[in-house]
Amino acid sequence: APKPLIDRHMRRITYLRLSVTDRCDLRCTYCMPERMQFLPKAEILSLEELYLLARSFMARGVRTIRLTGGEPLVRRDVVDLVRAIGRHVGSELDEVTLTTNGTQLAGHADDLARAGVRRINVSLDTRDPQTFARLSRREALPQVLEGIAAAREAGLQVKLNTVAMRGVNAGELPDLIAWAHSEGHAISLIETMPLGDVDEAREDRFLPLSQVRETLDARWSLTSSDATTPGPSRYFDIAETGGRIGFITPMSENFCEGCNRLRVTATGQLYPCLGGGERVDLRAALRSDASERAVAESLDQAMAIKPFAHDFRIGEGEAPAQPRHMSVTGG
Ligand code: GTP
Ligand code: 5AD
Ligand code: SF4
Repeated sequence: APKPLIDRHMRRITYLRLSVTDRCDLRCTYCMPERMQFLPKAEILSLEELYLLARSFMARGVRTIRLTGGEPLVRRDVVDLVRAIGRHVGSELDEVTLTTNGTQLAGHADDLARAGVRRINVSLDTRDPQTFARLSRREALPQVLEGIAAAREAGLQVKLNTVAMRGVNAGELPDLIAWAHSEGHAISLIETMPLGDVDEAREDRFLPLSQVRETLDARWSLTSSDATTPGPSRYFDIAETGGRIGFITPMSENFCEGCNRLRVTATGQLYPCLGGGERVDLRAALRSDASERAVAESLDQAMAIKPFAHDFRIGEGEAPAQPRHMSVTGG
């Protein structure tokens, strides 16, 4: 049998985040500048290439594939890829899923459910239309809320992703959580990470989740949950709302020790760490003569260079730890 992916820190890799495009129809201020430079389309992997890569990872023991962007649903043929990968769910794969901003989810939810998706993560930082427009620089809140509702109607389990930000949505978080739970959705809060230059100072917005936790504890009883997902979220149940909340704390409480994942960009660059700069060119391997062997060797190389942890820091005058934007690797 092909050998499993085990990195130099003895961590088993079972989770692939595969970006299908770096483009997005929103411009969230913590993610990208208004004038974002996107990659030429010619650089982007074809559907066939993405599927070949997915299969190479499955062959090495990857059990979860999460498609990301940019915004994955702006790529026209993405559902075909989901369907192709979805055929492996129940055998090699436990799960195929996506992380989406929700703007185009209403039109895709049924197709995604039929293609094998059971659970989907949707970004929602606010339910206030003005805050949404200021934050994402687009007036798309109604579409996103429609998308979330459509996902539920299609039978998809929805988890909301909320980046917690001082002076933006901090005051709204309890209401947002209560609303999510009343709709039957889990919700994860996220700390801002310093990837790529954006138009505003991240340190002004940074909010450690320990602070949010105090506010929530004053209002509700949170108890540690047995629930897990393959990602870094740590979950709590809220007795009063009957819902679940996750905390993703890359800055205040590092979770890298248990890292189980790799990410591949839409151009086939494998980044062993969201925070690590070194990368492996899977596209070159894929397009070489002895493609299968070259890809396998590239995966071995990734195992040899995967860093133990990111080195993100947020502070005044601190340059982003990574020049590349979050949208390049899709988180
Ligand atoms: P599940 O656990 O499968 O629900 O997914 P997830 O929470 O890992 O994925 P999602 O795409 O919803 O990402 C939520 C947030 O977690 C995003 O801000 C990601 O950037 C962040 N995240 C996911 N994996 C990592 C990681 O390895 N390191 C860091 N620092 N952040 C991560
Ligand atoms: N820090 C933290 N989270 C981010 N996201 C995008 N950029 C950043 C950042 N710099 C979030 C999005 C989405 C998820 C994929 O990552 O809001 O929910
Ligand atoms: Fe687009 Fe997501 Fe970045 Fe917002 S955070 S601009 S939705 S890729």
